[in-house]
Amino acid sequence: MTAAPTSRGRVVASGVGLDYDGSTALDDASIEVHAGEFFTLLGPSGSGKTTLLRIIAGLLDPQRGRVAIDDVDVTHTPTQKRDIGFVFQNYALFPHLTVAENVEFGLKIRKVRSDARAARVAEILELTALGGLGDRYPAQLSGGQQQRVALGRALAQRPRVLLLDEPLGALDRALREDLGAEIRRIQQEAQTTAIYVTHDQDEAFILSDRMGVMRDGRIQQIGTPEELYRAPNDLFVATFLGKTNLFPGEVVETTSAGTVVRIGDSLVTARPHATSDATSVYCSVRPEQLVVSDTVPTGHHKLISAVVTDSRFLGQRQTVRLAAEGIQCSADLDPYGPVPAVGERITLSVRIGESALVPRETA
Ligand SMILES: Nc1ncnc2c1ncn2[C@@H]1O[C@H](COP(=O)(O)OP(=O)(O)O)[C@@H](O)[C@H]1O
Ligand SMILES: [Mg+2]
Repeated sequence: MTAAPTSRGRVVASGVGLDYDGSTALDDASIEVHAGEFFTLLGPSGSGKTTLLRIIAGLLDPQRGRVAIDDVDVTHTPTQKRDIGFVFQNYALFPHLTVAENVEFGLKIRKVRSDARAARVAEILELTALGGLGDRYPAQLSGGQQQRVALGRALAQRPRVLLLDEPLGALDRALREDLGAEIRRIQQEAQTTAIYVTHDQDEAFILSDRMGVMRDGRIQQIGTPEELYRAPNDLFVATFLGKTNLFPGEVVETTSAGTVVRIGDSLVTARPHATSDATSVYCSVRPEQLVVSDTVPTGHHKLISAVVTDSRFLGQRQTVRLAAEGIQCSADLDPYGPVPAVGERITLSVRIGESALVPRETA
């Protein structure tokens, strides 16, 4: 899916920083979110996601840097003048108002005429699939329904930007998947920019056009889910976005086919290693990229020889554990194809130019 073609809702944060009592919560954070884009801030707890989102919202004043929405500097603009909508983890609905009244609330504050209000509420209830529930009170709704009301309330005033801070955090797993897909659909239909905070990598992958991975108050890397997964710049991003096998190596040279690294007595051509001049690197190979065979297949380079220590059928994949020269690895194989037996000695290889290199010192 591509971002909706709208020209409203471009968000730029430049060099934004904030300290709490001398300790840095957010350091030199810069993002550029395109109009209509679904952009996710992904990172572990305490990495500064909420701080950055609250600064964009105008709920926190940054000590450094600037925020602009549609090229207008809003760094010191009050929240209510930023034309944004919010959704938080705890739904924060008004318990004494019905679903329809909750959605209508912001429109009333803004003195929208009552016939226009009624039409907009009906539209929003339709958009959020809450059609029959307008007269219920929040306490009469499930968690997922309450979160849809919160989303509808945030969208009622057609904000330029929708900010969501772990909105699925309080829901159980199955509901999270369903509502995650709903949030993406509603955002696309409403043609609004979304900035979404989560610590859940699966959620980020399902929802995002692009994402920024955060760690210790810094944005480590920005890209599409695929770019970040296939070509992480550092060890943190490589390991935070799913499992990987790390083979220590030394950079030998860079060719047109990629960067050549020596791993043991093998030479492996990996993706071009352009973001760092480190020569001590890890060659990062995802479990599904690791090829387990007797000999090295064409188009592949040998990594190391290994012995199979464990093999498990997991339905969609066969996970094989391997040990070699002090390295433990795991490979996800096709359970319908040939699977090596425990104790067997095999060769591990990877497709030429497919693995990623990350500097070793950024552990
Ligand atoms: N009100 C506060 N006072 C002091 N420290 C805070 C406050 N809010 C957040 N922090 C600290 O700032 C850092 C970033 O927090 P936060 O942005 O909430 O992270 P995240 O949303 O990624 O979990 C953390 O180290 C956190 O402990
Ligand atoms: Mg947070």
